[in-house]
Amino acid sequence: MKALILEKANEKPKVVNDFEKPVPKEDELLVKVHCVALNPVDYKLVSWPQTTWKFPHILGLDVSGVVEEIGEKVKDFQKGDRIYYHGSLFTRGGFAEFAVCKAIVAAKIPEEVTFEEAACLPTAGFTAYICCIKNCVLQNQPEWDNRSNEDETKRKVVLINGAAGGVGGYCLQISKKICNCEVIGTCSPNHADYVRKLGADHVIDYNTEDITKRAKEITKGRGVDAFIDLVGQDSTTEGLNALCFGGKLCYIASPPKALPPMFEAKSVSSCALGWAYTADELALHELGFIAKTMVNWLKEKKISSPDFKTIKLEEIPEYFELFES
Ligand SMILES: NC(=O)c1ccc[n+]([C@@H]2O[C@H](COP(=O)([O-])OP(=O)(O)OC[C@H]3O[C@@H](n4cnc5c(N)ncnc54)[C@H](OP(=O)(O)O)[C@@H]3O)[C@@H](O)[C@H]2O)c1
Repeated sequence: MKALILEKANEKPKVVNDFEKPVPKEDELLVKVHCVALNPVDYKLVSWPQTTWKFPHILGLDVSGVVEEIGEKVKDFQKGDRIYYHGSLFTRGGFAEFAVCKAIVAAKIPEEVTFEEAACLPTAGFTAYICCIKNCVLQNQPEWDNRSNEDETKRKVVLINGAAGGVGGYCLQISKKICNCEVIGTCSPNHADYVRKLGADHVIDYNTEDITKRAKEITKGRGVDAFIDLVGQDSTTEGLNALCFGGKLCYIASPPKALPPMFEAKSVSSCALGWAYTADELALHELGFIAKTMVNWLKEKKISSPDFKTIKLEEIPEYFELFES
């Protein structure tokens, strides 16, 4: 089969036409690949080889395609199903004509959703789901909270730092359209309209404005209920100061330098999406559940895909370089 292979870590991947087609294990699906999304993690993995890799390695985590063959123990899928999934970064991936995945992490794609839209979801969308729904619990109004979701001024307030990126785009949509929060997004000025369009009620230019000060102004001194940091340690550390009493900070790139004092009752959590593959089957079941949930949100037009551009397999190495710069 045709595949984009990485012969060694830190090398430029190259296309070959005679790579061995994978064979599905009893709990796996063989997938004829239609689309694979590119994310920052893809180029980062070129210089971050995993001990489990067998070279030549095939990168590519967010795959959509058609089931070609099913393992003996697979029950929920059949040949011809349109599916998508977040693949394992510890085994060979999807930059190829065929790929295998565990059936438990896959979800069927409804006919209203394209292969491209589905492939855009996993790394960025599932991470956003974990940040917003699982870790920051934005969808629930606690029983003691006498603020009403119908009152525009009394919704939970979430600040998304790094809102213009892939993960940020889905965080904006989930917190606004699924969880009905008041949403603050940070970005460069040229992305302000885009961030507003996806759901931000307030936009902060992280280059020139003091994020904590603005967050306090917007919340009339209270602080935000949740601060989702998609950027790095400095902003994660500072983000703790923007939280209200008992607020939740969730990070995906780097933890804060220190935990907040206990008497502020703030909680800190992380998302490590791909590491679900190092845990037990329940963690993988969760990936499958999120896949089913989010593709239905797309079908029901509760969320939409980011603007995307399709490229050929051969063009991926040059896009890795572009991403890196
Ligand atoms: N832990 C996990 O499970 C997990 C999962 C997915 C991604 N990640 C990581 O999370 C990060 C974000 O991923 P992504 O796919 O969203 O990346 P992306 O699409 O490349 O977006 C990055 C965004 O960050 C913004 N940005 C850069 N510097 C900033 C700053 N100082 N303050 C605020 N925003 C800033 C940029 O906004 P402007 O263009 O407006 O300047 C850009 O749009 C990456 O490092 C990725 O590897 C981790």
